[in-house]
Formats: sequence, structure tokens, C-alpha cells
Amino acid sequence: TVLSQDDLKTLVGQAALQYVVPGEIVGVGTGSTVNKFIDALASMKDQIKGAVSSSVASTARLQALGITVFDCNEVAELSVYIDGADEIDPHGYLIKGGGAALTREKIVAAQSRQFVCIADDSKLVQALGKFPVPVEVIPMAVKRVTRQFAAMGATAVLRFKDGAPLVTDNGQHILDVTGLQIADPLAFESQVNQWPGVVTVGVFAFQKAQVCLLGTASGVKTLT
Ligand code: A5P
Repeated sequence: TVLSQDDLKTLVGQAALQYVVPGEIVGVGTGSTVNKFIDALASMKDQIKGAVSSSVASTARLQALGITVFDCNEVAELSVYIDGADEIDPHGYLIKGGGAALTREKIVAAQSRQFVCIADDSKLVQALGKFPVPVEVIPMAVKRVTRQFAAMGATAVLRFKDGAPLVTDNGQHILDVTGLQIADPLAFESQVNQWPGVVTVGVFAFQKAQVCLLGTASGVKTLT
């Protein structure tokens, strides 16, 4: 039987359990792939202390399964963060934020010793940038940041939801940016981080993945 994309997400969600350290708190990302991980994590809920979550949506899913969710500020460094991605390059550099949770995702990733990225193999690319790069921006800076991207030859589009600009868990907006040449993800992330009004750029180069579990037709492939 041919595995669907949903099956591949289930496979990597389950495979990520081997990185969860019993007795500890696990960092949990956001998205449809992570939802499979959260469902699998329920089987270990009595062995872990709990989770730190990167979104309101993941918090709700964790709590519904009886997993305790801690605030970032209540806990020290985490041993592992498990999250999906929108694009993954061969170095483990990522584009994230398709689900608008990039800011909290980057915070929890930065608080973790190891980032284990889980995805189906459609996310693997040779170079980042085909997927529009999400950038979380303070609402009053939307036009200014849009012009800064235009000056780079890129196009930034304000993300809408239900007929109005999307508002993130942090009360900000998202620009989705196309037409970028991201030859050096670390330099790109540094540059855009300098712009006033930018909260988070959805390129994860400083907070890259150390391990990627990729769901493929022939099973889970581990990239390090
Ligand atoms: C959320 O903001 C994103 O960073 C997600 O990690 C990303 O969109 C992956 O989601 P899926 O697992 O649903 O593809």
C-alpha cells in the first residue's frame, strides 16, 4: 500500500518519541506533523514531567490529552524541542511560520539543547526560499518592512485570515515574502532581525535543526 502524506507525518511523529527524555519536560512545536507527535506523546504522559508549548493550539491539544504545560519562564534549559518545518535544507536550516507560530517556536527552540525536526520528505529542498518566508511584524511597521523587502527585490504580502489581517498569538501581523535569494541563511536572518518592527524572521538558521526525521515512502530517514 502507498503511504499518504498523513501516514508519513504519523510515522515521524511516532519516531520522535525516542528523543523524549523520561522524567523531563519536552519542548513542543506547532502544526499538523507535531499534532501526530502530541498524539503519540500521550502514550508517554506518565513518564514525562510535562511540556513547554509554542502555541495556543498546541497547548490546548497537550492539555486535552492530560499533559501538563509549563510556561517558558518556569523552566530552565530543555533537552529537546520537537517541531515541524515548511522547508528544510541539507544543513538543517529551516523556513518556519506557515502556521503563524514562528516567534514562540524560535523562543522554545533557543531554550533547547537539541532541535529535532519532523516532516514528510516533501519539505526537503536544496536551497531555502521557494516557500514564502513568514516574518512576524508589529502592525505599525507593516508598510515600512514591506518597502524594505521591495528594496531587496522581494515581495511581502500581509497574511489575512477570515477577511482581516491575521493576528498572531502575540498580537502581531505576518508578512509572507517571496522572491528572496537566501544564499546565506545566517546572514539573511541577521539582516532582517535588525529592521525596526520585525519581531521574528521565519528563517531558523541560528536555531537550526540538529536532527531531521524525514518521512519517506521507504520509512523514516534520519538526517544529522
Ligand atoms: C508553524 O508556524 C510552522 O512553523 C510549522 O512548523 C510548519 O508550518 C509545519 O506545519 P505542518 O506540520 O502542518 O506542515
